[in-house]
Amino acid sequence: MLYSTTGQTQKVSEELAWELGAQMHEINAAPPENGVFGRLFSGFAALLARGLSYDVPDQPWDRSDLLILGAPIWNGRAARPLRQWLESRPALPERVAFLLTSEEAEYPARAIEDLSDLTGRQPVAVLHVSESDISRGTWKGRIEHFLDQCVVRYHHSA
Ligand SMILES: Cc1cc2nc3c(=O)[nH]c(=O)nc-3n(C[C@H](O)[C@H](O)[C@H](O)COP(=O)(O)O)c2cc1C
Repeated sequence: MLYSTTGQTQKVSEELAWELGAQMHEINAAPPENGVFGRLFSGFAALLARGLSYDVPDQPWDRSDLLILGAPIWNGRAARPLRQWLESRPALPERVAFLLTSEEAEYPARAIEDLSDLTGRQPVAVLHVSESDISRGTWKGRIEHFLDQCVVRYHHSA
């Protein structure tokens, strides 16, 4: 399950879905205004109870073996449309993993903690990909460890 505005999160998700043989589902929401004003706006919108409008496919998420939640970082947290969906407390499987993309290289510890709180789960795996990872192509090597953690249960039961 992913949300992506400019395609970075989607690009990484496509690779993960391909490697895992998993289905990709996208949250649709009106894109944020970009630039400094847009970033401020989405910060304010996050404070409003009504929030932004978004559309999530209707699936029995809790029946999947693993759900990977992917989003860009907005103002230090996972993007609003994903957070908003999680705030509605959808039924989730026991095993969740997080994918976060950002402009800055700094590891988004606070956003990961926030997603753990929202899902009520400790993720089985976390992948953070920054824009410089994407432009230099260095993220592809790092997804292997993430994928290993995602499928570890099969290794044990095999
Ligand atoms: C409203 C908004 C807020 C953002 N805030 C941050 C931020 O706090 N830290 C950061 O590193 N990048 C920030 N970014 C950059 C995005 O996280 C980054 O470009 C991401 O890779 C975009 O993913 P996407 O193409 O899947 O939408 C922000 C982008 C937008 C549009």
